Amino acid sequence: MKSIAIDGPAGAGKSTIARKVAEKLSFIYVDTGAMYRSMALYFLRNGISSEEEEKIAAACPDIDVSISYQNGEQQVILNGENVNGLIRTEEVSMMTSNTSKYPVVREKLLSLQRGLAEKENVIMDGRDIGTCVLPGADVKIYLTASAQERARRRYKEQTERGLICDMKEIERDIIARDEQDMNREVAPLRQAEDAVLVDSSDMNIDQVVDEIIRIYQEKTK
Ligand code: DC
Repeated sequence: MKSIAIDGPAGAGKSTIARKVAEKLSFIYVDTGAMYRSMALYFLRNGISSEEEEKIAAACPDIDVSISYQNGEQQVILNGENVNGLIRTEEVSMMTSNTSKYPVVREKLLSLQRGLAEKENVIMDGRDIGTCVLPGADVKIYLTASAQERARRRYKEQTERGLICDMKEIERDIIARDEQDMNREVAPLRQAEDAVLVDSSDMNIDQVVDEIIRIYQEKTK
């Protein structure tokens, strides 16, 4: 099986780009952030705060996360419920960053993620794919862009969805999330030694997609 790992900070465009690369190469796109988001939604719904590590650990056995595909789009199923439409709010984003630092949460999702890559050709995005989940990935990309540019893109995406938001607040949240994701003890966000750095600040989506396909073809020829 072939695999491409894409890691990088929040809002770098990983999911949009990974989806397009998957389409072009006929790979399955796996969005691991959505899995962490569904667990965060469970904690929020059950009134568990992100500081309560013991309660989080105690809740983990009650959480079942799986994924399925509808018209090629990944759906996250939390205890039998499709929660795809509920996991993209800023509240869930922050809760996800706050709770994905716990080893018990990460362990829960690791075998699901690795299992998918064993069965299919995948392009998987997240924070620790190249460093931890798929250390033997055929291609590793570290995709980033300036915080300002990432905030601008997220703002555009949210307003297009009809959500009212504030650009400065989004930028603050993005920086806070990066800080936390990069500095946690377990599986922090960092560029794998053998990852190719792609800075998309001045690139459009198609340019990034073409660049990743070029890197993939080069590495696997
Ligand atoms: O990619 P995203 O914005 O949907 O991710 C949401 C949060 O989930 C992110 O702030 C950190 C966490 N995450 C993680 O710890 N490891 C991953 N592989 C993917 C996401």
